[in-house]
Amino acid sequence: MNSRIDDTVPKAARRAPGALIDVVPWPAAAIARSGRVTHVNAAMERRGIRLPEHANRHVLSVFPEYCEVLEGNPRWLTPQEVDVARPSPGGAVHEKIWLRRFGAGAAMFVADESRLRELEMGYAQNARLASLGFLLASVLHEINGPLSAISSMIQILQSKRPVSREVREKGTRLVEENARRLLLITRKLTSFARVDDALRGPFSIDTSIDEAFLQLRHDSLGETVKFEHQRDPKAIVVGYQHQMQQVFFNLFLNAAQAMKGRGTITVVTERIPPAEIGVTISDTGVGIPPPHLNRIFEPFFTTKPRGDGMGLGLAISNEIVEEHGGSLVAGNNASGGALFQLRLPLTAASPGD
Ligand SMILES: Nc1ncnc2c1ncn2[C@@H]1O[C@H](COP(=O)(O)OP(=O)(O)OP(=O)(O)O)[C@@H](O)[C@H]1O
Ligand SMILES: [Mg+2]
Repeated sequence: MNSRIDDTVPKAARRAPGALIDVVPWPAAAIARSGRVTHVNAAMERRGIRLPEHANRHVLSVFPEYCEVLEGNPRWLTPQEVDVARPSPGGAVHEKIWLRRFGAGAAMFVADESRLRELEMGYAQNARLASLGFLLASVLHEINGPLSAISSMIQILQSKRPVSREVREKGTRLVEENARRLLLITRKLTSFARVDDALRGPFSIDTSIDEAFLQLRHDSLGETVKFEHQRDPKAIVVGYQHQMQQVFFNLFLNAAQAMKGRGTITVVTERIPPAEIGVTISDTGVGIPPPHLNRIFEPFFTTKPRGDGMGLGLAISNEIVEEHGGSLVAGNNASGGALFQLRLPLTAASPGD
């Protein structure tokens, strides 16, 4: 939560005291080394602290409730973040006091905790929307090509001018190929489609891993792959089991493809205190070239020949994991194969021993 205040305070205001606290949305005050309050911003004035009256007054008398909880010597120059509950006519107001050194003095920011929480949720939602928007824009861009090709070819085939048999056959093939590509894209995206909310609930992460591996066995590349799994039966998450199964299937299929069907996928499930689940998936394949590590989550980034891969597996998996409040990170293990690390929040429903 503290970083949210840091994010909100413009860089210039973080560096300089005085009038620059005016650009901060939170109630704020500039304090001289002596403890004298030299400036308050408009947000602080709206809280009834006005400068003409309080100029040259000491911080201990201007903000007695806040100074009471501050620590250090002198407390108004000691950088810190403290929570305070201030009585008000409508009940206690919970605030965070944020004290930072500026030049010879300090600045004090006061943030309403409930407003901070609102902002924090807003940031998370915005980041989520931006990421979904990026996926959607990439998909629209990608389906535009096949759709235009189909549309032009249909115009040619329907034209009144006679069309040779060769053109007709070529045209039909082109329509078929492009339609197949569109179907592949929509099929991939269906795994990400929001499912019925009734299907949301607690489930063992290892069950979705087992189901994904059974699914992999139906793929020709998955028939011969070895599978090692260190389980944690108490690793329970809340969400959509089918979607998480798709995530593991995408990761296992990538691993099987990188190993050309011959090698081992090792999965380790473990709880990470205080309240997370970690799943690492490593393979004995060719690994991911370091320049690709930053790009493999981009929609439609693929190194596979056309027809073998579309570059949607990891982009969709990443969205699903984020939808579940987790994260997915890619790397390579020391022995050369790829290593994916997935983190998810542990549900409160799971025994926490
Ligand atoms: N286990 C892995 N080992 C080596 N490279 C990998 C591994 N997993 C992913 N990659 C690289 O990341 C790229 C993107 O993976 P992603 O699953 O998003 O798409 P894809 O497998 O190419 O196509 P799709 O999943 O849509 O069929 C792959 O083309 C490959 O280059
Ligand atoms: Mg893939």
